[in-house]
Amino acid sequence: METAARTAPAAVIVAIDGPAGTGKSSTSKAVAAKLGLGYLDTGAQYRAITWWMVANGIDVEDAVAVADAAGKPAIVSGTDPANPTITVDGTDVSGPIRTQEVTSRVSAVSAVPEVRTVITELQRTIAAEAPRGIVVEGRDIGTTVLPDADLKVFLTASPEVRAARRSGELKGKEAGDLASTQAALAKRDALDSGRKTSPLAKADDAVEVDTSELTLDQVIECVVTLVEEKRTVA
Ligand code: DC
Repeated sequence: METAARTAPAAVIVAIDGPAGTGKSSTSKAVAAKLGLGYLDTGAQYRAITWWMVANGIDVEDAVAVADAAGKPAIVSGTDPANPTITVDGTDVSGPIRTQEVTSRVSAVSAVPEVRTVITELQRTIAAEAPRGIVVEGRDIGTTVLPDADLKVFLTASPEVRAARRSGELKGKEAGDLASTQAALAKRDALDSGRKTSPLAKADDAVEVDTSELTLDQVIECVVTLVEEKRTVA
């Protein structure tokens, strides 16, 4: 007998990984909104724990101190793609986590295994509780956090395109010149890809999409089509 529950699409888990400036956040939010799924920005969680470390005077280069404090802050992510939120101990940190001070320290904090354990656990719980499924964006989602995701996408773009996009996002805030933005991205990539614990990496079964020559709408359309194909097969 057919029931409403059986005809509703099953929850779908989409992992979108890649370095900064590849359009991950804009793509993930739009795909989630179009498909009625939740949205989780895992970079924001690593930024939030970094913000807390800095606010509490913890030396982020001291991995033992960072590890000891990793379980202390309560990080809560709201997963509505139209209004993603992030709080630490009840304080809205969506603005402060985007400052240069946090951006320059987040790779050091996110390389500490105890930090990754705490945040990964949080991410798995949020994904498991999303009623219709979720789009989760990050660096290690397809490889480590959600290795059984229904669809894994790895976004790339040339260094020049990524720097230009990032400069556009920072315009009027803390934008430097294009060359310094490109150098900062390259440095963060090297740290994120080179760390021992769950580095930035493409999962073997991820679909790689080079966004250098694509508009945002084209990337969104591409990922929506990939999700729909998976749902049809399932
Ligand atoms: O996506 P973003 O630039 O806001 O991420 C900030 C940093 O967080 C990034 O430089 C590395 C870290 N990060 C991570 O280690 N693992 C993730 N899944 C997401 C982000």
